[in-house]
Amino acid sequence: MFKKYLYISASIFLLVMSLAFIGDDKYWTITKEDVKLDFPKDFPKPIYDFKNNTPTPEGFTLGRKLFYDPILSKDSSISCGFCHQRIAAFAHIDHPISHGINGLLGKRNVPPLQNLIWEKEMMWDGGVNNLEVQPISPITNPVEMNEDMGTVIKKLQRSKVYTTMFKTAFGDTLITSQKLLRVLAQFTGLMISSNSRYDKYMRHEDTLSKTELHGLQLFRDKCAQCHKEPLFTDNTYRNNGIAYDSTFKDSGRIKITGDKKDFMKFRVPSLRNVEMTYPYMHDGRFRNLKQVLDHYTQSYTQASHADPILVKGISLTEQDKTDIIAFLKTLTDKTFLYDRRFADPNMVRY
Ligand code: HEC
Ligand code: HEC
Repeated sequence: MFKKYLYISASIFLLVMSLAFIGDDKYWTITKEDVKLDFPKDFPKPIYDFKNNTPTPEGFTLGRKLFYDPILSKDSSISCGFCHQRIAAFAHIDHPISHGINGLLGKRNVPPLQNLIWEKEMMWDGGVNNLEVQPISPITNPVEMNEDMGTVIKKLQRSKVYTTMFKTAFGDTLITSQKLLRVLAQFTGLMISSNSRYDKYMRHEDTLSKTELHGLQLFRDKCAQCHKEPLFTDNTYRNNGIAYDSTFKDSGRIKITGDKKDFMKFRVPSLRNVEMTYPYMHDGRFRNLKQVLDHYTQSYTQASHADPILVKGISLTEQDKTDIIAFLKTLTDKTFLYDRRFADPNMVRY
């Protein structure tokens, strides 16, 4: 009798376990549908052209594995995903300034990764202008991953798993930096956020509350010249009154152009998912959105080089600030934040 129960419960256990695994397979498997190029209708034409790097399930899966693999760093301690956290729209929640290899501090706040194919230039100062080239910067930066591309390729060539995956993705086992950069671009390029409550409101699929609508109206009046819809950036470099910090000595865009007019100008960041991407600004100096709005209501001295739009400060009541913040939270896109395609394949599913 006891034996029979044991058999029955063992079979039920095995059945449940195997179902769980079948479910998991589906969770991690990338299909053709998953990598279909389907851009939001109200967005402009993408700047990065997937024509020569059409995403495939195999390429994307390889890009995902590499993104989450510390093998790209010198001592195998830091992956792209270590700094770019999925739950923060791939920004980094707990550090104002990025932390790299051996706990070394970078200079800047980790920006979110989203809608990258619409970015003419990347980084806070626009220092990189091609999505495919971009990963060379963190891989080789001494305070980020501190590795050289040649060694990365050698490490990958020594790995059985990677030679197989490169073969599946490209048809041969030859691993090159170009292939590595292409699959990373397939993965990061498909990080598209376009399904927030704001987007649904714009498509007449959802409504916003009175407070949120008032926030939207204020936003359009006072912020949208720079944070332009639908991407919430106009892709320009501006000085929003942020004071120079003598510890970090980061003077922004001037380092790229050498033009004095660009002193303390930074790329206007998108505000999509901004609720999740704290702390804020290029050096993470503000912890929350209230501090950001308090900053914008100040007026600036000439010495601060603030953008003409902001010299007098933006006038907002406390209620206005609350309403703008309520609106900004409608830009949180749960479809994107919980998109299984971008999850770390080494972790349990969530
Ligand atoms: C040590 C932390 C760290 C690691 C590791 C890291 N990044 Fe970043 N990433 C940053 C920081 C900080 C910036 C902003 C740098 C700047 O503005 O100068 C950035 C910027 C970017 C950008 C530009 C985003 C934009 O909108 O401007 C992309 C794309 C990106 N990283 C992808 C990657 C990829 C792919 C990897 C892995 C190969 C990676 N990052 C590894 C910290 C990191
Ligand atoms: C003159 C252009 C301009 C205007 C107007 C403007 N911003 Fe900004 N905003 C910027 C720039 C440039 C930055 C990045 C500055 C930096 O990092 O040092 C920024 C950064 C931010 C950030 C931080 C985002 C992040 O990821 O760190 C928030 C939030 C923000 N702005 C909200 C607003 C709101 C709300 C308004 C209206 C009340 C507004 N901005 C008006 C140019 C502008």
